[in-house]
This record gives sequence, C-alpha cells and structure tokens, in this order.
Amino acid sequence: MTKLRKTPVALAPNAAPFAIRSERGSDVIAREALLDAAFGANRQTRTCQQLRDGRAPAEGLALSAVRKGKLVGTLRLWHVSAGGIPALMLGPLAVDNACRKLGVGAALMDHALAAAKARGHRAVILLGDAPYYGRFGFSAAKTCELSLPGPFERDRLLGLELSEGALDGVWGMIVPTGAPERFQAKWIPVRVKKTRQTSNLEPRFDSIETEKALVLKIKAVRARKAPRAVPQAA
Ligand SMILES: CC(C)(COP(=O)(O)OP(=O)(O)OC[C@H]1O[C@@H](n2cnc3c(N)ncnc32)[C@H](O)[C@@H]1OP(=O)(O)O)[C@@H](O)C(=O)NCCC(=O)NCCS
Repeated sequence: MTKLRKTPVALAPNAAPFAIRSERGSDVIAREALLDAAFGANRQTRTCQQLRDGRAPAEGLALSAVRKGKLVGTLRLWHVSAGGIPALMLGPLAVDNACRKLGVGAALMDHALAAAKARGHRAVILLGDAPYYGRFGFSAAKTCELSLPGPFERDRLLGLELSEGALDGVWGMIVPTGAPERFQAKWIPVRVKKTRQTSNLEPRFDSIETEKALVLKIKAVRARKAPRAVPQAA
C-alpha cells in the first residue's frame, strides 16, 4: 500500500486562502461551468462519464474548494465495482484556471483520500495523468488487467490502495455501483399562509409533489403581488 502524502498547501504570497468543504446544492451551476471550462463541452461523452451518469457520488465524497466565496475547485468520487471488487472511481478533478498552482488540487485530493479511508473504502481508481496523480500514490501497477466500458488510454488507468492488498490480482470490467441520482427539488422559500387548498400539499423533498406544491405557492404569491387592474373611465 502506498502511504498517503501530507500536502503542504503552498499559497503564493498574498494569495487568498481557500477552504475545502462538502459540495452543496448551490455549487452545482458553478461546478458545471468550471468542468466545461476545464474539460470542454464534449466532456459528457468521455468514457468515465458512463460510470457517473445517473448516479449519486459516494457519501461525503463530493467536495468543493472555495476561495473568496467563489467555487474554484471540484472533486467527486463514485462507487464502482472493479472486476467484482468494491472501489471508488475518482474524478473529475478540476481547479479554476485563475487559481491553479496554489495547492487547491492537492488539498482536494488529500481531503478526499483521507475521507475515503476514514469511511472504510479500500481502493481508489482514476483515469488521469500519472505525472500529476503519482504524487498522491497512484500508479498503474495493479490496474493493468482492468477495463473501462469505452475507449481509454491504458497508461492513464491508475489505482491507489487505501488498504494494503485491496487491488491484488484485480481484473475485469469497472462498472458503476452507486445509488441512482435522486432528483434534487429546488427549494424556493416562499411564505404562503396555509389555506384549505395548500395545507394538504405540504412540500415533500425529492418528489414530483414538491414541484407541484412549489409552483402552486409561487403562483399564489405572484397573483397577490400582481398590480390590480385600474378601472378605465368609459
Ligand atoms: C490538474 C489540476 C486539477 C491541478 O490543480 P492545481 O490546483 O493547479 O494543483 P496543485 O496546485 O495542487 O499542483 C500544481 C502542480 O501540479 C502540476 N500539474 C498540473 N497538472 C498536471 C498534469 N496534468 N501533469 C503533471 N503535473 C501537473 C503543476 O504543474 C504544478 O506543478 P508544481 O507544483 O511543480 O508547480 C488543474 O491543473 C486542472 O484543473 N486542470 C484541468 C483539468 C484536469 O486536467 N484535471 C485532471 C485530470 S487528469
């Protein structure tokens, strides 16, 4: 097993500090824009995307880096089966172009790997540049018999054991095993006095009813705010 390195977060002189925290629902738009900028618009067609489509990331392993209140980095990990062995697939990792080489990427990696280990995960796999990920202990030493469900460059398929021997003799296809992504209803806090009509439409998280209830509430508020028609003189 490779020992996790301890990253010194090297800040440039006068650089604003950044924080690593769990991803929030409000990060999604900025995260997607950051990923588009980092990987291009065709990123959704990449092989690894097949392991993420329609899945939720592993619990506690969707991270954001925030600097001056702005999202500047993102990293998520996903449940997979690597030839029958439970593992995590890491990625995408991206840092805002304006904030690179400040240690944000390393901080996201260190935080994610420590959290994954603390949660009992035994191995992490990724498709990426060995010269970058090698510093975190990733190598192709034990991934040469693994495959992905699509085209990929063999020397970019890398693994890291969080538990010694977790990837010993592993072979076969890497397939997604994460829970299906649940529809995240967008909560719009609108205060509406309960009426007979709305009282039995209490919003429930993550359901079609939530949307219906919210739409009704928003319509009710808008109707109240709409300027009344001024009677026209004949
Ligand atoms: C890769 C990336 C996440 C690194 O983020 P970062 O915050 O700049 O990373 P860090 O500050 O921790 O480390 C910077 C170091 O990594 C090096 N580095 C960055 N990308 C690298 C790569 N693909 N291969 C090798 N080294 C790389 C930098 O040159 C720098 O080296 P230095 O410390 O000797 O100056 C960022 O460059 C990025 O978002 N790139 C575009 C998306 C991407 O390629 N994601 C990774 C998929 S392989």
